Amino acid sequence: MTPSEQLLGDSVFPRLKALVIEVTGMAFYADKDLDLAQIIADRMEQCRISDCAAYLELLQADGEEMDCLVAELTIGETYFFRHKEQFDALREIVLPDILARNTPSRRLRIWSAGCATGPEPYSLAILLKREFGAQILGWHVSILGTDINQKFLSRARDGRYDQWAFRATPENIRGECFVPVGKQWQIRPEFKAMVSFQYHNLTRNRFPSITDNIAGFDIIICRNVVIYFSRETVEALVPCFHESLVDGGWLVMGHAEPNMELFRDFRTVNCPGAVLYQRTSVEPQPIRPPQRHVVAPSLPLPVQQRMARRLQPQSPRPSPSPALALAMASPPTSVAVSPPLSEVRHLADQGKWDAALRACDAVLGKDSLNWRGHYLRALILDQMGDGDACESALRRAIYLDRRAVLPHYHLGLFLLRAEEAEAARRSFRNVLALLGGEADDRAVDEGEDLTAGQLRETVGMHMKVIGIS
Ligand SMILES: C[S@@+](CC[C@H](N)C(=O)[O-])C[C@H]1O[C@@H](n2cnc3c(N)ncnc32)[C@H](O)[C@@H]1O
Repeated sequence: MTPSEQLLGDSVFPRLKALVIEVTGMAFYADKDLDLAQIIADRMEQCRISDCAAYLELLQADGEEMDCLVAELTIGETYFFRHKEQFDALREIVLPDILARNTPSRRLRIWSAGCATGPEPYSLAILLKREFGAQILGWHVSILGTDINQKFLSRARDGRYDQWAFRATPENIRGECFVPVGKQWQIRPEFKAMVSFQYHNLTRNRFPSITDNIAGFDIIICRNVVIYFSRETVEALVPCFHESLVDGGWLVMGHAEPNMELFRDFRTVNCPGAVLYQRTSVEPQPIRPPQRHVVAPSLPLPVQQRMARRLQPQSPRPSPSPALALAMASPPTSVAVSPPLSEVRHLADQGKWDAALRACDAVLGKDSLNWRGHYLRALILDQMGDGDACESALRRAIYLDRRAVLPHYHLGLFLLRAEEAEAARRSFRNVLALLGGEADDRAVDEGEDLTAGQLRETVGMHMKVIGIS
């Protein structure tokens, strides 16, 4: 009997399968036991584990092994300018509409959800710069690629591709936008600089979320991702996409995924070979509360407990610094997640930056020592493209509580973007020092679903990418 056949006969296998589907949303594996068993058997061999129950325990305890398994389970088929008709529709309809709409703010935010190794967000960067370069000169443009597969994300950050990734790309574009490196092609720095990548699990991480940088997009592109999810999961995701767009923002799904019923809260625009969905200002009727997407049957209890814990609002830090203690001792608005700050967050999650900033300033007007307020203000200012004010707000948050981890982290990101590598290194080191011996699954203060383990890994990745340690 092969190891995978043995696995299929193990009474713990259904629990492993439920865990995999719950974590990834990939209901695709519901009727693919043999494929799944082969992948799991390979991982078990790598980990030198022969007992299914022991592997289940390892997965529940160790985020790293879950990442390794996810890397094998996910399907990353992608290439530049995949499905040309959709890029035509973006060029002809979506981008002209958004650029006209955003002329006063001169900012543009795009999210490629499930970006795999990066050709989709990089194609968008190329399209924008080549076709609209003059129009967006001096604009604050950000294209965010997210994925659940850390290995894909790392390759996306490298930005180096084989010839096969250009099977739908005209040769002149490849020649203009990439540099040959051996048999591969490296994306040119001016396009690379327009795109950033981060981990995000569509079925586990709540969104929109200003804290996760997932909010207020002008365009969301999510193609060939939800085809692996159950109908129930997709129904729960669509309102989250809706909420993550600004009014007038556009959603682009895979060309084989049009479904009028699912996208009924959007305005549908039919183009040759492509269907587009636009968020209109009319408030939608939610299909269901846009929260968690999958409830897997008979999940092992520890996982359900972990999920439940992740869904709890973050509690205040156990022992605040003197400055924060002072802030917490002053009138009602200083409570960690005070209603006014949650309102600010709600506005920011919807991409209503001006209103969010006004509300935040009102909170800070009454409670100027609240580091959470300054931190949130920094995130909003960053989205508004006001770098200097963002940096001062982050420094103020750090001044008020040096042990608050996320302001250090965001300051590190900010300094990296400003190409101040040495200063960024200091901020990232502060993050690692503050995380210290925190357990991997410990939630990070103000970090929504973010855990200490994930933050450690992300900071390590940034330090590695820029060659500092
Ligand atoms: C087939 S690729 C699509 C790539 C690109 N969007 C395109 O169309 O060329 C699907 C991607 O979805 C990612 N994915 C699967 N489940 C996910 C989840 N729950 N959250 C985020 N990404 C996920 C996979 O890792 C994979 O990179």
